[in-house]
Amino acid sequence: MMSTTRTTADRSAVRTLLRLWPYVRPVRARLFTAAAVAVVASCTGLVIPLVLKWLVDGPVAGHDPAGVWLGALYLLLLGIAEAVLFGIRRWLVARPLSRVEAEMRAGLYRRLQRLPVAFHDRWASGQLLSRGTTDLMLLRMFLAFPLTFLLVNGVTILVGVIIMLVQDWMLGLVILGPAVPVMWTCAVFERRYARVARRAQDQVGDLTTVVEESVLGIRVVKGFGRHRSQARAFRELAGRLRGTELRKARLLATIWGVIVALPELAIGAALVLGAVRVADGELTAGTLVAFLSTALALRWPVDSIGFLLAMTQEAATATERYFEVMDEAPEDAAEGSGEGTAPGAVGVSGAATASGSLPVPRAEVRAGAGAGIRFEGVRFRYPDAPPGSPPLLDGVDLHIRAGESMALVGATGSGKTTLTALVPRLYEVTSGRITLNGVDIAEIPREELRSRVAVAFEEPTLFSASVGENVLMGAPDGAGKPELDRALAIARADFAHALPQGTDTRVGEQGLSLSGGQRQRLALARAVVGRPEFLVLDDPLSALDVHTEAAVEAALRQVLADTTALIVAHRPSTVLLADRVALLSGGRIAAVGTHRQLLRDNAEYAHLMSGRREESR
Ligand SMILES: Nc1ncnc2c1ncn2[C@@H]1O[C@H](COP(=O)(O)OP(=O)(O)OP(=O)(O)O)[C@@H](O)[C@H]1O
Ligand SMILES: [Mg+2]
Repeated sequence: MMSTTRTTADRSAVRTLLRLWPYVRPVRARLFTAAAVAVVASCTGLVIPLVLKWLVDGPVAGHDPAGVWLGALYLLLLGIAEAVLFGIRRWLVARPLSRVEAEMRAGLYRRLQRLPVAFHDRWASGQLLSRGTTDLMLLRMFLAFPLTFLLVNGVTILVGVIIMLVQDWMLGLVILGPAVPVMWTCAVFERRYARVARRAQDQVGDLTTVVEESVLGIRVVKGFGRHRSQARAFRELAGRLRGTELRKARLLATIWGVIVALPELAIGAALVLGAVRVADGELTAGTLVAFLSTALALRWPVDSIGFLLAMTQEAATATERYFEVMDEAPEDAAEGSGEGTAPGAVGVSGAATASGSLPVPRAEVRAGAGAGIRFEGVRFRYPDAPPGSPPLLDGVDLHIRAGESMALVGATGSGKTTLTALVPRLYEVTSGRITLNGVDIAEIPREELRSRVAVAFEEPTLFSASVGENVLMGAPDGAGKPELDRALAIARADFAHALPQGTDTRVGEQGLSLSGGQRQRLALARAVVGRPEFLVLDDPLSALDVHTEAAVEAALRQVLADTTALIVAHRPSTVLLADRVALLSGGRIAAVGTHRQLLRDNAEYAHLMSGRREESR
């Protein structure tokens, strides 16, 4: 389990958050209106002290009950106006912001689907999951609240301070006293909080990964009695997260202490000084009342700055984490423009990549010697292989003629699965090239390539969907029952018809559990349902009993007759399906021939096959 790069250091929260603009743009009108309304609402609150001043110095001092009632009415109306305006703000932002969140989440999911397999090899799924959930929620909260209120409170504080200075500049300066230490604390706090916030959010990702792994691997966990150690691992991570959260809380408490205490002291000082000056007759009582109630009205805007800054930092971290995924080059970027050469994301696939997709005349190709699948000097090493290690595939040359089926045999770990993954470009070759009917696969648009090449992987994955939907995934849109039935027949997966709801039965995580052999046959059906031109099967029959295997083979032979196929095989019986066999050894194709020839001439092949035979019989 690996977490991703954790760079926090000194990033600017503002610059990071500005990256959200493209997503916010569509709702900017509403957001700005809402902010403006909030500013007006907040400043309405500041008029209240002025009315108080008029009330105290006028009707109250002059013992005029009618005037007092009028003043009270004004105050009531101001209060109502403020409340209504804040209500309008809420109403303005709620819907557009949930849209922004949904948009960003959809964007993330879309990107995850398009990122190369090499990316998913590198990233723990929990990290991706937490970015799509917790982080996006933090962002929505930020857009709804701190973003507006940092502005609103800033303006309110400014206006309030001006009002106080106009009322009485001496008291105003007393109130302004703590400004510098408070700002300094905020700056220090921000930097520290950013680091801890990042750590906390990464730890949420790690925790998600552990939960996910233990849910998916619950059988292994239970089977080996590891529930205790698994729970311990969880508790440890959760404890670490708790520690980080507590550190966040401590930081927040410190800044809160400073932000609340210092202004409070200043207000106290202003009260004493003001009272003395009223007694001396230098100040009217009304002015002091107005002054102090303005100061009190500013308490909330000042106090809230602490957690608004905290939420902003968390949002900046969330943005950073979001864009770490979004900035990865998707598969398609590697095509044509050549911009997608981010290290590790895609291998450099030679000059062909840069030249874009050239139209190649089909007729010429078919007639040429390149028909079928051809590997030419293919080298490949995994982007995350230890540095200095030799390439896993080191100059593979192999030609599978059109219509031929070729078995691929090799010791476990020799790179068979890797080789098959190169054909649909799940990974990019490091150098060399693979051609289909003479056309470099790097020049074929991925979508077209993958519709022409069908694959069945070693681990048959079924999705939470019906059997039919799972199989028809391999067919072009619009394929239906006839294709489904034919594919199920070829893969000898007729058991599907006997399921509770036939081929509409839901399987996968949330549905009916199938046996390994059943899943393998459905995966095989998925591979053949689209009548692909090229078929790549990674040990497609390994989980079947001898009789079922023979039956599948008989049916598969018909399919293979007019398909060009590469079949990874461990057992002689599977090898016999193919016209010829290639032996993968030491990163190269060591020998090609019929099963019989190789058995006779190649010691390694004979050893591999005989060992297997004893094992499987
Ligand atoms: N995503 C990956 N990143 C780095 N190394 C990998 C990755 N996937 C596989 N490998 C390594 O590549 C080597 C070949 O793996 P591969 O799955 O191609 O073998 P295989 O021939 O299919 O073996 P088997 O017969 O057991 O299925 C292994 O040593 C494996 O550790
Ligand atoms: Mg394999």
